[in-house]
Amino acid sequence: MPTPASQIRLLLIEDVPQVAQYVRGLLNSQAAIRLLDVVTDGRQAVPLVSELRPDVVIIDALLQGKVKGLDVAQQVRQKGINVPVVILTVPQKPVQVAPDRGVDRVLTMPFSGYDLVNLLQTLSAERQASGAEGSSRVYSIFAAKGGIGRTTIAFNLAVTINQQSGLKTVLVDGSIQYGDMRALLKVPHEAPSILDLPTDRIQESDLSDVLWRDPSGIDILLAPPRVEMAEMVTSRDVDKVLSILRRVYQVVIIDTPTALSDVVLTFLDNSDALIHVVTFESTVLYNTRAVGETFRAIGYPVDKIRYLLNRADSAGGMDPKSIAQALGRDPEFHLSSDGRLVVESNNQGVPFVLANPQAAISQELARVAEALTEGAAGRLPAAARR
Ligand SMILES: Nc1ncnc2c1ncn2[C@@H]1O[C@H](COP(=O)(O)OP(=O)(O)O)[C@@H](O)[C@H]1O
Ligand SMILES: [Mg+2]
Repeated sequence: MPTPASQIRLLLIEDVPQVAQYVRGLLNSQAAIRLLDVVTDGRQAVPLVSELRPDVVIIDALLQGKVKGLDVAQQVRQKGINVPVVILTVPQKPVQVAPDRGVDRVLTMPFSGYDLVNLLQTLSAERQASGAEGSSRVYSIFAAKGGIGRTTIAFNLAVTINQQSGLKTVLVDGSIQYGDMRALLKVPHEAPSILDLPTDRIQESDLSDVLWRDPSGIDILLAPPRVEMAEMVTSRDVDKVLSILRRVYQVVIIDTPTALSDVVLTFLDNSDALIHVVTFESTVLYNTRAVGETFRAIGYPVDKIRYLLNRADSAGGMDPKSIAQALGRDPEFHLSSDGRLVVESNNQGVPFVLANPQAAISQELARVAEALTEGAAGRLPAAARR
């Protein structure tokens, strides 16, 4: 299995709009790098770095205001935040590399897109190799049409991964408007949701008050209880929530809706891979192909998407070859149909993989879980497992 093509999450501390715009322009066509935010005030920089936990921070040495650029770098290091810092400067104001003062690299203007991207990739690779971060994996379960098994698969996959590998797993109901998890798990109406997390700085301790602890052993971040509340959730909230979940959990599984809003795209952008569910239905295949083109246009690498053929044993009269024809390749994963087990388990709010671990569909899902977590356990510190 290829390593998931994780995005590099960048935070830029820059008060000159032209420079910020230049960096934005260079990164525009780079799907591998995600510019989380541009901070213009040095006083806000450190709180935001500790909150967003970017993979790399770029700070302009010439930052004006109360807290100057090199002070920000030093504070980041003093706080013990483990993030590589790049200092941006001009030839007239040379800066020396000094990792103990938060200056890991220096980038002197003018620089090209190649210089920038190359530097960010090198730093991120070094960080991953040192095992400091990047051990957590985020998977979105997506489909181009409703009712084809996303919610069922997301829930059961999360439980399987947790049971099988002992990796600490959280399930996020990313279907913010019509979240299905509340109904599926029969949670009380007043159970807290993503909206109950603080909007400014989320701490690890806030999570325990908000997450739903399912008897199956996984934690679940629910969607708001009312449809109209969905508009209160922004892409920025999603970025923050995911960065804290990445810190606390080894695996994050996200159930998603079909429509591609900004919020949904933020979930997908933040995912190491999309598990794209398909079935033997011409409308599903048609829409899958259409959204596949959108993903290509956004710049998602081909191996970010893994197809899962659900109800693989019910071709409904379609030629089995039609799937590969529509997708351009064979699906990576298969799940069979098991109406009785799946519907009964869903109606009782229990995962089918626990109701009948021996069933073919449970065994098949175990193989999906294995493929997705391959190598993960070995890369994680023992304390991170349970
Ligand atoms: N492999 C399967 N075998 C039998 N029934 C399934 C299977 N996958 C999903 N279902 C059923 O299909 C319906 C839709 O599933 P759901 O997970 O809610 O889809 P989505 O989240 O994509 O809208 C549910 O009634 C579920 O029980
Ligand atoms: Mg659903």
